[in-house]
Amino acid sequence: MNGGFNFLRMKCILILMKRMLLFTVFFIATGKGYRLRHCLHPRHFGSGWSIMPELDIDYKPLPIQKGFHESAALFRAYVGGFGSGKTLCGCQEALMTCLSEPGVFGLIARWTYPELRDTTQRTFFEVMPKELMDRCTYKKSEEHLVFPNGSEILFRYLENAEEMLKSLNLGFFYIDEASEVTEEIFLALLGRLRQTNIRWRRGWITSNPNGHDWIYERFVSKDSLAKETKDNYELFHAPTRENIHLPEDYVQNLERNYPIEWVRRYLEASFDVFEGQIFTEFDSSLHVVDDFNVPADWERIAGFDYGLRNPTAILWLVADFDGYCYIVDEHYEKEMSVEDHASAIKRRGDVPIFADPAVQTRGPTGDAVATLYADQGIALTPANNDVDAGINRIHEYLSPDQHGIPKLRIFKSCKHLIRELQGYRWQPKKMGREGEPERPYKANDHAVDALRYAVMSRIQHPIHDTIEYDGSAEGRRKRHLARLVKASKGVIEEDGAW
Ligand SMILES: Nc1ncnc2c1ncn2[C@@H]1O[C@H](COP(=O)(O)OP(=O)(O)OP(=O)(O)O)[C@@H](O)[C@H]1O
Ligand SMILES: [Mg+2]
Repeated sequence: MNGGFNFLRMKCILILMKRMLLFTVFFIATGKGYRLRHCLHPRHFGSGWSIMPELDIDYKPLPIQKGFHESAALFRAYVGGFGSGKTLCGCQEALMTCLSEPGVFGLIARWTYPELRDTTQRTFFEVMPKELMDRCTYKKSEEHLVFPNGSEILFRYLENAEEMLKSLNLGFFYIDEASEVTEEIFLALLGRLRQTNIRWRRGWITSNPNGHDWIYERFVSKDSLAKETKDNYELFHAPTRENIHLPEDYVQNLERNYPIEWVRRYLEASFDVFEGQIFTEFDSSLHVVDDFNVPADWERIAGFDYGLRNPTAILWLVADFDGYCYIVDEHYEKEMSVEDHASAIKRRGDVPIFADPAVQTRGPTGDAVATLYADQGIALTPANNDVDAGINRIHEYLSPDQHGIPKLRIFKSCKHLIRELQGYRWQPKKMGREGEPERPYKANDHAVDALRYAVMSRIQHPIHDTIEYDGSAEGRRKRHLARLVKASKGVIEEDGAW
């Protein structure tokens, strides 16, 4: 009796093992169901998945997409080139969240309605398995999708959306092409993440990079974020060529046919290139160098841009004996007294300072800025303020020479100048005024202006010349003045008068 029972038990175990083996082989062979779940963060394994355990979602994420899905960050940004899999990844994340978080209420959004309808929403419905869609309720007129487990998605465009946002209690939001959207809208959505009956609340965005905008500030530099919130933001950076699902020659063809700036922004997903950018040649790897000790006998000058509510920006430029220049120091402070700016200048030593010619204009108090500084023992020499000529001169300084070395490089510590050079952009042309000359944006340009004054005032030839120099600061100043007089062909006189 006992022996028969043991035999029966053994047989059952063998059958069970055989089934398990077959089951495993089947799943490994087909990859069904396994593939999607394999890439999920544990939060995706909610009970809601069991609404359709047999559900097969055919999605094998790219490594960058996998990292995105696995991340536990409160806010995630997938910033990538054209066709780098941004929208697909954002939509898959929304689908997984709805399946794994029963009753979650989410928003999928884009700036304009036609783009929402034709790209984001279209991709979402493409990734929705048909058997699941058949069990969902979708009210097209309200752009509202309800899953069998009670999860919901609203599709909305964000242009003029302030009122609509005020009434939402969200469990998640996803903004596609978020660079089109303002930071205020992002913050408004962040404030709506307050659904209570769920385990996870999250926001994610996908986008092309658009220079040093709010996405860069929040997800890359994080400079303006409070220390305790920095970890809430995680960036996933995806150049187009990492998407192995694109046609083989796709990237190569675009690289051949588009200018380098376009390739850097739209294929390499560089944050350093954007619409209307002026110094497109600026490249941190070429133009930014580690600080080093500057030999005492290199030429030194400073560029000065005055500001009160805006920062006063002062840059110190040195040139070696071959004429290669470095910006070695910066002073960038607002709402500071002239005395304090003057002490900051004096601390750096005595060098010729070239300033916006407006410093000579009398202000409301009757004194010109140049006079106020003269009272502190600082001489400001008016510089050439031709904006176009100054921008051209900076272009010239940034261009690599025959040795591949640009004439101007910047010490890593001069953060404000680096930021401003990267962000300096043309104002968009107004309708009907396309023929007018381009003007740069008058914002975040203080260090760039100071740089213009410095490079416009510097004589252009290398240092080797015949002007005598006794090695003293006064001698250096005289030598510099003599060079300026020579180079200005009479515009500047022997005594330095302009
Ligand atoms: N993991 C993946 N598996 C299969 N195909 C993928 C995957 N990721 C992306 N793709 C495919 O690559 C193409 C581009 O993807 P997607 O549209 O998501 O990219 P995008 O970055 O949003 O593009 P765009 O810059 O045009 O907005 C699509 O055909 C998409 O189906
Ligand atoms: Mg897309």
